[in-house]
Amino acid sequence: SLWRDGVSYAHAPDLTHYLESTFVPSVVPQPDEYHAKDQARQYLEKLADQVSPGAKLLPFGSMANGFALKNSDMDLCCFLAKDAPVREPSELVEILGRLIEQETNFYVKMLPRARIPIIKLTIPPSTDVPMGMACDIGFENRLALENTRLLLTYAMIDSRLRTLVLFLKVWTKRRKINNPYRGTLSSYGYVLLVIQFLAHVKQPPVLPNLQRLSSPDGSAAEETMFDGHDISFFDDLDALPSLFQTTNTETSGELLIDFFRYFSKEFNFTHQVVSIRSDKGVLPKLQKGWHVDFEFDPELTVRDQHKLCVEDPFQLDYNVARTVTRDGLYTIRGEFMRAFRILTTPTRSPEGIGAVINS
Ligand code: CTP
Ligand code: MG
Repeated sequence: SLWRDGVSYAHAPDLTHYLESTFVPSVVPQPDEYHAKDQARQYLEKLADQVSPGAKLLPFGSMANGFALKNSDMDLCCFLAKDAPVREPSELVEILGRLIEQETNFYVKMLPRARIPIIKLTIPPSTDVPMGMACDIGFENRLALENTRLLLTYAMIDSRLRTLVLFLKVWTKRRKINNPYRGTLSSYGYVLLVIQFLAHVKQPPVLPNLQRLSSPDGSAAEETMFDGHDISFFDDLDALPSLFQTTNTETSGELLIDFFRYFSKEFNFTHQVVSIRSDKGVLPKLQKGWHVDFEFDPELTVRDQHKLCVEDPFQLDYNVARTVTRDGLYTIRGEFMRAFRILTTPTRSPEGIGAVINS
């Protein structure tokens, strides 16, 4: 029906049709883009091998998790061979960075002293690479690789997740609320919001909780620890149907509208933490010690840290949304409300739905 709990879903059919037949195909990368990026990755890997024999450059983030947009940055992580001499990431940034500078036409920016030392590479647009290319190289970040694999596994379970995430990525970038350096939330943070919504808020759920599903033989998922973090999750997609099959038949349009409803009206930003690995999908801030909003940093500043709380699925003491400031959260919530209002105004013409994206 068009109305549910006083909310009009009259636009849901048009919205679903738009998302699935027009929007998604127009924003995802074509095979040639993946190919060009993988060529670049292989070439950079050869250079990494010169710095430390046996070094590997593995993709993570959007190029590897199923949520890439056209021309998105390539995130790479360098892993040294097990028997290679140990070297500090900051040192590797400088050595590999200089080699890339010499050997390629990438513009290189080295950040050896950043919290996570990285090399930032860019190639300006050319006939070969019409949109240019941007690439970040980090070191030994096993958790990023594992959370990428978790997101990819979720993406393979139900295509509605990918539709919602791609829409949110484009929309949050256009609305300028996808910038952790300017007080808002990273794409990774938004993806966690969508997974929490589909796995925990929706009844019946669209997704299982892969971190709480146990194997068909009754044994619990074997515990795999890395650096003190439990990184295990259910990843046997062939065995999944005997454990979880969704009975939720809502369309992507309905789910998107309801996502905006939940995060503009229902989620308690003051007291709750979004936690996809938890039993209920939310935890009290108090339980995590995240009710204290300020970090007193003797070095520099006092800043917001726990305005918006999104728990990392593996690194439980890490608030993925710690970059979100008071103003940033105010803007994000305002944008969620605006999108909800536009999508649920029944008198608006179907073309008006586009207004959610375009200013
Ligand atoms: N990541 C993380 N912690 C964060 C942000 C990012 O561990 N606070 C890691 C995750 O592995 C994530 C990857 O970095 O998958 C890339 O994050 P991000 O750039 O936010 O997501 P993308 O999907 O690459 O989106 P975009 O296209 O906007 O770059
Ligand atoms: Mg990225």
